[in-house]
Amino acid sequence: MALSLGKDLIGLEELSADQIRLILDTAEPFKEVSERAIKKVPTLRGKTIVNLFFESSTRTRISFEFAEKRLSADTVNVASSGSSVEKGENLVDTARNLESMRIDMVVMRHPSSGAAQFLAKRIRSNVINAGDGTHEHPTQALLDLLTIRDRLGRIEGVKVCICGDILHSRVARSNIWGLVKLGAEVAVCGPRSLMPRGIEGLGVKLFRRIEEAMEWAEVLNVLRLQLERMQAGFIPSLREYNRVFGVTVERLARASRKLLVLHPGPMNRGVEIDSRVADGEQSVILHQVTNGVAVRMAVLYLLAGGNPERAEAAKGQGSSREGAE
Ligand code: CP
Repeated sequence: MALSLGKDLIGLEELSADQIRLILDTAEPFKEVSERAIKKVPTLRGKTIVNLFFESSTRTRISFEFAEKRLSADTVNVASSGSSVEKGENLVDTARNLESMRIDMVVMRHPSSGAAQFLAKRIRSNVINAGDGTHEHPTQALLDLLTIRDRLGRIEGVKVCICGDILHSRVARSNIWGLVKLGAEVAVCGPRSLMPRGIEGLGVKLFRRIEEAMEWAEVLNVLRLQLERMQAGFIPSLREYNRVFGVTVERLARASRKLLVLHPGPMNRGVEIDSRVADGEQSVILHQVTNGVAVRMAVLYLLAGGNPERAEAAKGQGSSREGAE
């Protein structure tokens, strides 16, 4: 039987290594669509997708919307502010009302862990998790994996250290699942107060000092310090955090390897990452953002029932005609 993703994409925990590779391979031909003068193929023409964003987002929301439009789907954006959620309507009622208008897919970001799974069990439409609480952010991890593979030519055996606020990070969880399944060596590094208890149980090494992590790793994925949570006293001060854990040009220069630096964004410049690193030659942060569109096109295409072997042909459909218009 042909490999598929099933009905929904909730997290990388549920996917096999082959399913993750399928998404990455399917993203490859879609990269080229965004480089065209007319960035559109008719692959999802006639499909209706609702983007339900109950939490703020720049990269994920916009790149899903670009991915949907480049595949010619019809899209509607719903935010909690300005919708009947503000009047107390619950998630399932909101989604069922949308389904009554004959939609095909829901892309959802939600502050509660488990919200995407909860919704997926209750509606017929495909559900894609665009980040749920501290649980998972699967498409972010997929674009991180694609970027590492683009830059290093492989994922298996690559040493990746995820640095910073692991405790609150759905990006860290999805990256750990994805990287471990694809055979990478994975480590985490951060303050004790921002490290989930028992994290080694997920198959990762633990570094307490950023210098040691940098000496070990080939790739650093630097996480945002979730400043909105820092009133709870997780760290003494931002300055202190930067002094002890900040990814700086000086620290990178002392590492014996030339590390690749990723960051999912949004960045706190001068806190977890210095501007000279973020904008420097070892940074692939904007490459990650570019890959986000192709990865999301691949996920939408596969969940809509697209044949992965026809992704190359799908991106070619109508391109010469539309390109000439
Ligand atoms: N990386 C990420 O999820 O960014 P946004 O919150 O801007 O979507």
